[in-house]
Amino acid sequence: MMDSAPLLAVKGLTIALPTAEGGRAFAVRGVDLSIGEGEIVGLAGESGSGKTLSALAVLGLLPAGASIGGQIRFDGRDLTAEGGQGAAAVRGRDVAMVFQDPMTALHPMLSVGRQMTEHLVFHRRIGQAEADATAVAMLERVRIPNPRAAMKRYPHQFSGGMRQRIAIASALAAGPKLLIADEPTTALDVTVQAGILRLIESLRRELKLSVLLITHDLGVMSALADRVYVLYAGRVVERGSRADVLARPRHPYTRGLLDALPHGSPADHPLSALPGAPPAIGRFPSGCAFHPRCGFAQDVCRADIPDLLDVGAGSAIACPVDPLAAVPA
Ligand SMILES: Nc1ncnc2c1ncn2[C@@H]1O[C@H](COP(=O)(O)OP(=O)(O)OP(=O)(O)O)[C@@H](O)[C@H]1O
Ligand code: SF4
Ligand SMILES: [Mg+2]
Repeated sequence: MMDSAPLLAVKGLTIALPTAEGGRAFAVRGVDLSIGEGEIVGLAGESGSGKTLSALAVLGLLPAGASIGGQIRFDGRDLTAEGGQGAAAVRGRDVAMVFQDPMTALHPMLSVGRQMTEHLVFHRRIGQAEADATAVAMLERVRIPNPRAAMKRYPHQFSGGMRQRIAIASALAAGPKLLIADEPTTALDVTVQAGILRLIESLRRELKLSVLLITHDLGVMSALADRVYVLYAGRVVERGSRADVLARPRHPYTRGLLDALPHGSPADHPLSALPGAPPAIGRFPSGCAFHPRCGFAQDVCRADIPDLLDVGAGSAIACPVDPLAAVPA
């Protein structure tokens, strides 16, 4: 599915944040990531690994005082070279985002119709009647019952699942090429979650939408993502197809994450559930930041930051020890 030039290509992304002590600490440390047209790419990793910051960098919405390095190319534009203006130009129009809590995207005091059409008039420069028709069609597409009546209602009059559908409709109304969905189902119960995941999958098919799906829930990832990137302490430690990363994980961290799943799949590899907690920024361990929690750590792991090396078929891992290579298939 990947073109020669992917829709989004992030290279060597670094993000440093100011610390309370007056210094700076790197939260994202050299992330490479690409998304092709119509592709759903998952970004996984425990809390604090840099998932949301990486996405916010694409949108030019990093916290005040953050500094960014590396390159972000989107649809032929070099957003980093264009500075904040490049990201501002694509934000909302070509790249849209939905969050865990749909109320962060929806204005509580504005009717659904008003917020959707204001957004459309602003981004697409169309008249009110056309904006109304587009908003109704998009609400219909995300399966909001009676969309014309829904346009007159307010976000709090809908359930959490319906609000997330409305937030997705609102994000997609201007016809973006890339949707960034940050934990879009985490606040929803399991049945509602499944409906939202099916919706994202159908939107990808119908609209040729590309999706960056951020979640620490590998179950959600396995339902939807074509390819998966696993982040740890601001670095990609493993990437590959969904089947390779989630069914045949090679990096000890990915394998630990999978073992920590309640239903423990895959079952037959030699790590138990992940011990310990991920490190905070400014306190990343030397070398491979995972080494204090890794059952395979050796001296070299404490000394050198492992490069992300290709291991074939689009997969790469950042672990020179590669324990799986030593385990008979
Ligand atoms: N505005 C901010 N000011 C200071 N530190 C921040 C800020 N935003 C994020 N961080 C820190 O940067 C690191 C990465 O944050 P990020 O939000 O990208 O993590 P995440 O992978 O999305 O985690 P989660 O799964 O909890 O959402 C964290 O340690 C976080 O505390
Ligand atoms: S580099 Fe070393 S510490 Fe890091 S995951 Fe591999 S074996 Fe474990
Ligand atoms: Mg986050």
